[in-house]
Amino acid sequence: MNQKVLSKDQDPAVTAAAPAKQPALKPLPEDALIVIPMRSTVLFPGVISPITVGRVASVAAAHEAVRTEKKVGFLLQRDPQTNDVQPSDLYWVGTAGQVVRYITGAEGTHHLVVQGQSRFRVLEFLHGWPFLVARVQLIEQREEANPDIEARFLQLKSQAVEAIQLLPSAPEELTVVVQGMTSPALLADMVANLLDIKNEDKQDLLETFDLKRRLDKVLEHLGERVGVLRISKEIGDKTKKQFDERQREHVLREQMRQIQKELGEGEDSAAELEELKKGIEDAGMPEDVHKHAVKELKRLQRMGEGSAEGSMLRTYLEWLAELPWKVSETKEINISEARKVLDEDHFGLDKIKRRILEHLAVRKLNPEGKSPILCFVGPPGVGKTSLGQSIARATGRKFQRIALGGVHDEAEIRGHRRTYIGALPGNVIQAIRRAESRTCVLMFDEVDKLGQGGFHGDPSSALLEVLDPEQNSHFRDNYLAVDFDLSKIMFITTANMLDTIPGPLRDRMEIIQLPGYTEEEKLEIAKRYLVKRQLEANGLAASQVELGEETIRKIISDYTREAGVRNLEREIGSVLRNVAMRIAEGEKQNIVIEPKDLHAILGARRFESELAERTSLPGVATGLAWTSVGGDILFIEASRTPGTGKLILTGQLGEVMKESAQAALTLAKVLTGETLEKTDIHVHVPAGATPKDGPSAGVAMFLSLISLLTSRPVRADVAMTGEISLRGLVLPIGGVKEKTLAALRAGIKTVMLPRRNEKDLEDVPAEARQKLEFVFLDKVEDAIRTAIGELPAPGARKAA
Ligand SMILES: Nc1ncnc2c1ncn2[C@@H]1O[C@H](COP(=O)(O)OP(=O)(O)OP(=O)(O)O)[C@@H](O)[C@H]1O
Ligand SMILES: [Mg+2]
Repeated sequence: MNQKVLSKDQDPAVTAAAPAKQPALKPLPEDALIVIPMRSTVLFPGVISPITVGRVASVAAAHEAVRTEKKVGFLLQRDPQTNDVQPSDLYWVGTAGQVVRYITGAEGTHHLVVQGQSRFRVLEFLHGWPFLVARVQLIEQREEANPDIEARFLQLKSQAVEAIQLLPSAPEELTVVVQGMTSPALLADMVANLLDIKNEDKQDLLETFDLKRRLDKVLEHLGERVGVLRISKEIGDKTKKQFDERQREHVLREQMRQIQKELGEGEDSAAELEELKKGIEDAGMPEDVHKHAVKELKRLQRMGEGSAEGSMLRTYLEWLAELPWKVSETKEINISEARKVLDEDHFGLDKIKRRILEHLAVRKLNPEGKSPILCFVGPPGVGKTSLGQSIARATGRKFQRIALGGVHDEAEIRGHRRTYIGALPGNVIQAIRRAESRTCVLMFDEVDKLGQGGFHGDPSSALLEVLDPEQNSHFRDNYLAVDFDLSKIMFITTANMLDTIPGPLRDRMEIIQLPGYTEEEKLEIAKRYLVKRQLEANGLAASQVELGEETIRKIISDYTREAGVRNLEREIGSVLRNVAMRIAEGEKQNIVIEPKDLHAILGARRFESELAERTSLPGVATGLAWTSVGGDILFIEASRTPGTGKLILTGQLGEVMKESAQAALTLAKVLTGETLEKTDIHVHVPAGATPKDGPSAGVAMFLSLISLLTSRPVRADVAMTGEISLRGLVLPIGGVKEKTLAALRAGIKTVMLPRRNEKDLEDVPAEARQKLEFVFLDKVEDAIRTAIGELPAPGARKAA
């Protein structure tokens, strides 16, 4: 150690490291202090703190202080960057203290250990010294004991103790020190010193002479800090728990192996290694992977029995050996057979099945080609997942499914590196091992719910790599750390909504929309599939129960309201469970369920036709919305109150919808000739059905207003969708198929659509086209004519 330590009673001037002897300086006045400016430390009374001095003036000041055993005043600089400090660069309140140690470091640095003693305020700076000198007024802390202070003191103590315990690195003894403290002022200053706050805030605490106020301020800062500490400890605990669990599993496995060995149950290790070797030889790995595996196996053989690393390496080699490296002989796709299988599994969906078959045909003709990935988009329960299973069956492949909903971490897809304790391959490789085939059908469910990339890497870019035919022939899982060829896998993805699928992913996929089923289609699906399946699930034979067509219809219309058939299947299940119970209780064998029996089994009907009731009053129009679960009807209600001509909007409205409500009101005023100067108009769009396409409720909003202003109700059996322009033109919208199906489900007779959506009708199922009347709108007046009836001219109405 080439440091020289001086105590204050040694003369620094005589030590080698100290600057050359200087002529004695004139003595300081009684009430003056040597001042050392501090760049970024606030010294508090009662606190011992190391500081470093570098500036010539400061070093001279420190020397003089040690030589004369005078106190030093420490003042914070306003700007830590300032070098040549003038009085105006300093705060004028500081702490006077003693230099208790002066240490000259190796590179000519000067370190002081100082002890703060009392606050002071600068009265004036004096000239004539090679350092700063100021006349000061010392501010002594009176120790006043009163209940106010006492209460705060106790609170501060307990908070400080909590903070210490939350700090991972705080020494235990500190708690004892804090608990033993008797001076509130000292505790406040000590805590202030330790607080992790800005220097300005610390200076503020220093300048708060009033003890009660100071205690309050310190308590507030400490409270915030404790809050943060609590949260970060919680996070730390969680992470630790996950880590512990992985480690625990690892340790348990190891113990299990040891116990098995003791009991003579485990194969002896040589045989085990032999088997692993055989596995590696038989796995059909590509040349380089095989070489790597053999090398790792040799390493394992050299490793001691039962070492932690050995067991990790063994698990790794088992993974390598068990992956389906070989392409098992998959039989050629037979298109007509595939068609048969698709038809067997699913009713209807003709267009979709055709596109699937086309896709298969392309694959068949050009197996090496880069065909796009199928993506089924549609509401829940329309058969996306089950179509995927059906495709696997139709092509004689294994089916595996990976749910992407809520996957936030890239490692879930791509695995963790082996250095990570408890590491495993990602879910792609895991699914392939489960499938035991590298030509399986792999379905990624809910690509639209894939978590956004964050702290742990972007899962969507990892997924992109998996799906991209340019890259996936050498996909590298972090755990495997060797390439695995995914190019023979048939990938299928599903989503409820298109909009939230990350763009680059969407570009690689062939989107196939499943809009949902009509009542007739649901009936057929129920008769052919759902009832059969539920009979089986409940252990019933078809002869034991009869569920007639009318009964199923009633379940569809009164107990479900969905685009798919999942709830329908569930309700049929409930009915059959009821039957099974009755038979088990000894009732006769052949039970017939009539529509009227449903009430007793399923309870009161869940969906009444609200149409007539809701639209009986003027001011209500039935709109059609396109939501993530398919289409739905929504009632738009307008009412008026005395007021000042304001438009009040409530309910589920986006920005676009608000604008479109404003446009609707303006148009309605023009058409009816009403000025509404003394009236407020209130438009309500019910929550629950958040439309995906904001402005498409324009026509409905407009009609609800016209209906309100003319006091004539809108026809109950008419539903409408369309955007409006300020000049009264009706503009096209999206989701015609879904909306039309929703109208049909709700019992609507007439659907009004923008003229420019007329072409979309060809996508609408034939049943809906037959049962619904369509009116195409060019202008908003067309909508009035159909849904309300011809309006008298504004002039005529005014006169009336
Ligand atoms: N056209 C159909 N013919 C026969 N059964 C069908 C048809 N459509 C759907 N189903 C059945 O409805 C049930 C629900 O379908 P599935 O689980 O595939 O829905 P999904 O579209 O994947 O929904 P989610 O988005 O909620 O995952 C399945 O049992 C499926 O077999
Ligand atoms: Mg599904």
